[in-house]
Amino acid sequence: EEKHETKTFRQRLLVVANRLPVSAVRKGEDAWSLEISAGGLVSALLGVKEFEAKWIGWAGVNVPDEIGQKALTKALAEKRCIPVFLDEEIVHQYYNGYCNNILWPLFHYLGLPQEDRLATTRSFQSQFEAYEKANQMFADVVNKHYEEGDVVWCHDYHLMFLPKCLKKHNKNMKVGWFLHTPFPSSEIHRTLPSRSELLHSVLAADLVGFHTYDYARHFVSACTRILGLEGTPYGVEYQGKLTRVAAFPIGIDSERFIRALDLPPVQDHIRELQERFKGRKVMLGVDRLDMIKGIPQKILAFEKFLEEDAYWRDKVVLLQIAVPTRTDVPEYQKLTSQVHEIVGRINGRFGTLTTVPIHHLDRSLDFHQLCALYAVTDVALVTSLRDGMNLVSYEYVACQEKKKGVLILSEFAGAAQSLGAGAILVNPWNITEVAAAIARALKMPSAEREKRHKHNFLHVKSHTAQEWAGTFVSELNDTVIEAQLRTRQ
Ligand code: G6P
Repeated sequence: EEKHETKTFRQRLLVVANRLPVSAVRKGEDAWSLEISAGGLVSALLGVKEFEAKWIGWAGVNVPDEIGQKALTKALAEKRCIPVFLDEEIVHQYYNGYCNNILWPLFHYLGLPQEDRLATTRSFQSQFEAYEKANQMFADVVNKHYEEGDVVWCHDYHLMFLPKCLKKHNKNMKVGWFLHTPFPSSEIHRTLPSRSELLHSVLAADLVGFHTYDYARHFVSACTRILGLEGTPYGVEYQGKLTRVAAFPIGIDSERFIRALDLPPVQDHIRELQERFKGRKVMLGVDRLDMIKGIPQKILAFEKFLEEDAYWRDKVVLLQIAVPTRTDVPEYQKLTSQVHEIVGRINGRFGTLTTVPIHHLDRSLDFHQLCALYAVTDVALVTSLRDGMNLVSYEYVACQEKKKGVLILSEFAGAAQSLGAGAILVNPWNITEVAAAIARALKMPSAEREKRHKHNFLHVKSHTAQEWAGTFVSELNDTVIEAQLRTRQ
């Protein structure tokens, strides 16, 4: 009798992102210790059985010597990661400069740097050249590892130049590009000196993805208004083909959070926290210490709330976890001292001998501590001035099945499109409005909290990171097949 073997097809996938999902620490001339960061994106891209994925990116460390590079490459290979080595000067000009001092603030509506216009214009050009050079270095590594049939998925604002570099080398390569930040209104994008070069390069991809329909729409209008191209509901007509543009809202690995809540160490943390804050309501903020997160605005709104309602002064505490990030960029250094100053002032003003209203931590927490915090707090406060999606809001919802806490969410976060019906939406620039939302959240009756939580929980559970990745990749395959059929007609 004939035996039928079912061989499951696994899509080979090359994920290209600025950063590898590992932190690498050098332990000797040829020894490295690696820790893989277990975020939703990692499990969606490396942990899904439908993909045979490899991840290409910068390891986040400077490795000038060949012995070190070889050893790191070998160690990373075991984790299905492939490093791109960037020297300090490139990191300074490309990562700190063009990516994080120019594109990041611009895409979040904070404008281009303005201190010294002339100096900025001069350094702008060299930073852009470094950006192109760095993107070409990523392309060289992709080309080296590419095999026919691979899907190449480029990520984020660091790699907008990559699709063009890849297609120039091999026009048959299947290339997708996804932006994790907002794409701003075309009126903002057109202030960027290299506005056209970046659009042309992204359009070289087969599929271009954003978190929300609005970002996709902004991108298409930038292409029509700045480049004079034809936009359609499906994308942009570009050099005789259609570059497909669509929205793919990301999610989290919600089961990972839900399962974690039952683990003994998380339960221990939960008990400790409950004991520590007994008799008080606890509000939570978890953000990278970034100007887009609106941390000063959030704290000032909390001050306004305490100012207006003396009753709450010793009955509520705000825990703000601010994870340091991009600490070599001066804007980020300024923000750190600004936040410290405001927190100090408010604690001095409203603290008592035994309590302070704001606990501020300048560091990250481990996964278990974070889950416990998400689970025990009464209100989460997400006040981003702009945010591509904001997954902290998703993580909070995933951990709140018992408590049914309230999510206060900025209307300028992508997540407002999906969690808006369950959250209290606010304009983070309006401190009076946020203060009123805090009062409302703290007093909200449990029936309303349950209803709101249910809506959000269902969404977070059913829109996962895995599903997001699967949809993007199959759409990319379909787009390429459709384009081939069209050219054959
Ligand atoms: C945002 C970006 C990511 C980036 C992350 C952390 O979420 O979209 O691409 O990796 O911030 O920033 P960092 O500069 O430390 O990689």
